[in-house]
Amino acid sequence: MAARLNTSLHNALSLLNPFNTPLSTKPFYSRNSSFRFSKKFQSSSGKRALYCTSSFGSQENGVDGAETFVLTTPLYYVNAPPHMGSAYTTIAADSIARFQRLLGKKVIFITGTDEHGEKIATSAAANGRNPAEHCDLISQSYRSLWKDLDIAYDKFIRTTDPKHEAIVKEFYTRVFANGDIYRADYEGLYCVNCEEYKDEKELLENNCCPIHQAPCVARKEDNYFFALSKYQKPLEEILSQNPRFVQPSYRLNEVQSWINSGLRDFSISRALLDWGIPVPDDDKQTIYVWFDALLGYISALTEDNEQQNLETALSLGWPASLHLIGKDILRFHAVYWPAMLMSAGLNLPKMVFGHGFLTKDGMKMGKSLGNTLEPFELVQKFGPDAVRYFFLREVEFGNDGDYSEDRFIKIVNAHLANTIGNLLNRTLGLLKKNCESTLVVDSTIAAEGVPLKDTVEKLVEKARTNYETLSLSSACEAILEIGNAGNTYMDQRAPWFLFKQGGDSAEAAAKDLVIILEVMRIIAVALSPVAPCLSLRIYSQLGYSVDQFNSISWNDTKWGGLKGGQVMEQASPVFARIELNPEKEEEEKKPKVGKKTGKAKVKVEQTPTVAEA
Ligand code: MSP
Repeated sequence: MAARLNTSLHNALSLLNPFNTPLSTKPFYSRNSSFRFSKKFQSSSGKRALYCTSSFGSQENGVDGAETFVLTTPLYYVNAPPHMGSAYTTIAADSIARFQRLLGKKVIFITGTDEHGEKIATSAAANGRNPAEHCDLISQSYRSLWKDLDIAYDKFIRTTDPKHEAIVKEFYTRVFANGDIYRADYEGLYCVNCEEYKDEKELLENNCCPIHQAPCVARKEDNYFFALSKYQKPLEEILSQNPRFVQPSYRLNEVQSWINSGLRDFSISRALLDWGIPVPDDDKQTIYVWFDALLGYISALTEDNEQQNLETALSLGWPASLHLIGKDILRFHAVYWPAMLMSAGLNLPKMVFGHGFLTKDGMKMGKSLGNTLEPFELVQKFGPDAVRYFFLREVEFGNDGDYSEDRFIKIVNAHLANTIGNLLNRTLGLLKKNCESTLVVDSTIAAEGVPLKDTVEKLVEKARTNYETLSLSSACEAILEIGNAGNTYMDQRAPWFLFKQGGDSAEAAAKDLVIILEVMRIIAVALSPVAPCLSLRIYSQLGYSVDQFNSISWNDTKWGGLKGGQVMEQASPVFARIELNPEKEEEEKKPKVGKKTGKAKVKVEQTPTVAEA
């Protein structure tokens, strides 16, 4: 039996690899198989053991034959409107989704709001609203921020949606039928902000939660419990055989050490709280907010006009390829959630990636600590591309990163306005002046024997690998290097000078412009997951229509897209430099001791968003 369990787990584990990159363990399995955990056999020790059955050919391919890539952000608590920390996960997810779409995958990008629980009920009351009204309002503010930030999600799930409630109840019933739910008294220290009972040893002085710096409260309740401890061994095996399940790799140790320290059953209902989904067959209790919200990743898959039950939802895209979360909620996703799924006999997601925190003065930026950065303000001031680019480029995905306006302005001006925007502007200016804005030859012909082409091809490959491994900052870096290579080429070739010389030199200069514009085209495609509006503006200036831009794929990063005869648009800045206020500029000129930070101003181009355009 043990051998069978090991082989079966191994089979399932090989499918937990979302990007089909080589696993450290052999063997290879078909992408089309899907494995499901069930609990039918007794192990030799008398305990029920997990085994896997395989079925072929359904989940992995969309209707049109394209591979499906399902990714999720956490469902955000609606205790307060979004802050930059919440926006960060979603920006990263959107870039990954856009990249996967460029690869031709059928992407289902899920986000939404987590609306039940004590924390929400309390904040609704504090704002003098009833919980439902409060949730409507805050949930809507998330949607509008996603619009402002050009987030192209496919599904937005609210945990107060009746279709979600139905699926949670069905899931609970399955787990119950499996013998993993029992009733008991519980006494412990509760952090309302985490919505979690805490171990005393994890707490700071005065029983303060280390994340929220607020004291936990003593609670005693008669609750329903989930038998997490039964899944200790299967979880250990999953993680040891498929270490890629938790990413980045350095987070795996943390998860393994929680598990190794011994898993304890956890309470999955609340007796004293109305604002939640009633426990099936016991309406005196409501389901614990995490046991409810995690199911949003499945209920989100349903279509409004279809039958809404667990099986239908699962058939529409489960298991998820990637759960993108912050490191504070890793335990819920890498320990509780897989155990819950195993208990219900469902497939596990393929990967959980825990990114770091945006911090302010070294502390996690958050609603509870009140040290947040206003994302609406930031987008209004600097535009979505700058905000998206800055956080993805500046914060290595996985690590923490501190925000400073000075750094923001420096990075965005140097990379987007200068390296990329200026290069396009100068080149189009020269093309207008010397070639009537028309390309003289195909970019493939222009680049014959030109080493820049190879450099660009290598950097594009680097960007692709980095996107694939979720090294988003390095992907941006590789793309910027393409821009740097283009600028160097421009400076070395000095086409403005060659044009003046006329004859062969002018002909060569006209080819140089084609080469640089081809570089710009490739940058636009490669950068589109991160800065979609900027990419669209570049593409439009290269003479393409919005429809043409909307149908680009990663293949379009290959050299050779621009053809002779193509007419370019008038040069106009695709990314306006952020200018410091006069007050700030004065400050900048003064000696740098005890300097106050002033405010910055920017003229961001008013261009339609990709979705609107
Ligand atoms: N509702 C739960 C998630 C349930 S998922 C089924 C929750 N919500 S949250 O609103 O508190 O946090 C949502 C996400 O935002 C988490 O991944 C969290 O890590 C992230 N962030 C919140 N503040 C953050 C920063 N300051 N920096 C980066 N991400 C942060 O947890």
